[in-house]
Amino acid sequence: MNAHVPSRPGPPAQGPQPLPGVDAIIAVGSGKGGVGKTTLSVNLAVALAKLGHKVGLLDADVYGPNVPLMLGVNGQPKMVGENRIEPLEAFGLKVISVGFLNPGDKPIIWRGPMLHQIMKQFLGLVEWGQLDYLVVDLPPGTGDIALSLVQTVPLTGAIVVSTPSDVSLQDARKAVEMFRQMKVDIVGIVENMSYFVCPHCHNEIDIFSRGGAEKMAQHYDVAFLGNIELDPEVRKSGDGGKPVVLEGENSAHAKALFAFARKVEARVAEIRATAPESVIQIQ
Ligand SMILES: Nc1ncnc2c1ncn2[C@@H]1O[C@H](COP(=O)(O)OP(=O)(O)OP(=O)(O)O)[C@@H](O)[C@H]1O
Ligand SMILES: [Mg+2]
Ligand SMILES: [Zn+2]
Repeated sequence: MNAHVPSRPGPPAQGPQPLPGVDAIIAVGSGKGGVGKTTLSVNLAVALAKLGHKVGLLDADVYGPNVPLMLGVNGQPKMVGENRIEPLEAFGLKVISVGFLNPGDKPIIWRGPMLHQIMKQFLGLVEWGQLDYLVVDLPPGTGDIALSLVQTVPLTGAIVVSTPSDVSLQDARKAVEMFRQMKVDIVGIVENMSYFVCPHCHNEIDIFSRGGAEKMAQHYDVAFLGNIELDPEVRKSGDGGKPVVLEGENSAHAKALFAFARKVEARVAEIRATAPESVIQIQ
């Protein structure tokens, strides 16, 4: 306690720093787990790539990195130059995930400061190159990772995913409030697992209810990005490492996901046109 510590000028206080070459950074979050953040992140990223953009996907779910499985990609990222990390590639995307560094089923037990470090490295040390969009798949909840992300880079905006159930919507409201507190623009709210078309009688069944996310979007005066139905093909293709949007925009299973991607495209353009200063405001 009495040790003499020479006073040194500390490092300059640094706010979030843009990633050179990366035009838009979009986080995908939700309050609740299991609502389809990763499924929508992966399909959004691949759809944007199919629409002609250069896209990166950062799996920021350090607790349960599912992106490698959903993209069918694995391997050890190469180091390039002086401790720079080369992302892996899948379906034209540049991808990075803790899952590449720690494959298998043993978890890494993260301490808070380590989480912040890994996020900084994933953002700052990875050779993302020129990207139109970097999509960031967040873990569930409103915690450390989202905070580290906004402290490290200026987010263009956040997408909030919810199912229509009241339980999911309750948590999604928290996610919206969190992004607002962090001064992150909301790209919009998307309703996943909206309804299910019975393959037998073709009736639409509202398994988790329906329409709640759109009402919530109205309530918060943010954009609604669409309804994605509960579709076994979406689950199968995710488990199989071949996102369903690879089927193309005309596939019945992929149509709504492309419509979602196009809405994201439009909203991001809008955010960047109307509030470029929001990119540097975040502290
Ligand atoms: N629209 C959909 N139709 C069918 N299955 C879906 C749909 N969206 C997601 N799923 C399935 O639901 C499960 C959970 O989805 P996912 O892992 O994307 O959720 P998550 O929000 O990322 O979960 P976590 O909070 O654990 O990260 C997965 O098996 C996925 O394939
Ligand atoms: Mg996930
Ligand atoms: Zn039926």
